Amino acid sequence: EKGTYPHYMLKEIDEQPLVMRKIIQAYQNENNELHIDEPIVGAMKEADRIYIIAAGTSYHAGLVGKQFIEKSAGIPVEVHVASEFNYNMPLLSEKPLFIFISQSGETADSRAVLVQVKEMGHKALTITNVAGSTLSREADYTLLLHAGPEIAVASTKAYTAQLAVLAILAHVTGQSCGTVQDFDLIQELGIVATAMEALCDTKEEFEEIAREYLSTTRNCFFIGRSLDFYVGLEGSLKLKEISYIQAEGFAGGELKHGTIALIEEGTPVVALATQEAVNLSIRGNVKEVVARGANPCIISMKGLEDEEDRFVIPEVNPMLTPLISVIPLQLISYYAALHRDCDVDKPRNLAKSVTVE
Ligand code: F6R
Repeated sequence: EKGTYPHYMLKEIDEQPLVMRKIIQAYQNENNELHIDEPIVGAMKEADRIYIIAAGTSYHAGLVGKQFIEKSAGIPVEVHVASEFNYNMPLLSEKPLFIFISQSGETADSRAVLVQVKEMGHKALTITNVAGSTLSREADYTLLLHAGPEIAVASTKAYTAQLAVLAILAHVTGQSCGTVQDFDLIQELGIVATAMEALCDTKEEFEEIAREYLSTTRNCFFIGRSLDFYVGLEGSLKLKEISYIQAEGFAGGELKHGTIALIEEGTPVVALATQEAVNLSIRGNVKEVVARGANPCIISMKGLEDEEDRFVIPEVNPMLTPLISVIPLQLISYYAALHRDCDVDKPRNLAKSVTVE
């Protein structure tokens, strides 16, 4: 059921605007307001600290989700890689709430944490694409992603769905706490869906960028600051897992503390510039790498663009940029893998869900 698509990954990238609209619908009540069941909002409000547990792409979604929840609802959030948590458990707060983010709902590392925190008597919410999955059954509460089956090993539509559901959870909790007013998230997510469509309609641009920067390179860096940093981490994971190009994501300011030594003549550096507050500083980081010979690919957002930019994404609410800035990175990774004759949907050494610890 790939239809006319050569790969599931491309189909799933293209489905993202539709998934956005499904999520907006699924989380609306009869008054056309965003809605999350009261027990879940109650559990959020009771918590003095939230612990997000996830792996891989879902972990990257959690990093963005932390910003959503802290900014909208004012509840402190920690984000942890599941495989580290069990033996490296931080000191827990008095009233923790655990949020498990997992496309499959079957990731063994996350399940091991869930088992342990349930034994300790804590509450858990699972955000998953699969109703009836292990993590959903064993948690107290579930929120579904409504992304439809994700077949390609590289996660794409589940990531943006996770971000949207986290934004809604943060927003509804914030409204209930009185910390969010006058913010029309339904409208903002609608703008996101339209922007996603525009990006999916300009695939040739991304194929060209992949050809220009990634056809023969050994490595590639992704830099960004604040939310862009987290999207860079996800972009680098996408690129390495399907194209086998060694890729790393860094906070813009962290490069010069060591990694800049790796920049050589022609090394591709993808820089994200969608955040006004750090626009000048990320552009400063680009100058630093260019001075060492890097081949920069700046992806900025409308309103913050500059002549030097390789691609400008449409403008969306500054909090929601990760939902769209990731799409160029997904498509660039896809075409890089294609140009390098890699098996896009089934990369070597990887399984869709990792059911061993
Ligand atoms: C990357 C990817 C993996 C998964 C990770 C967690 O594209 O798909 O990094 O994100 O294995 O899987 P879930 O979300 O099913 O727990």
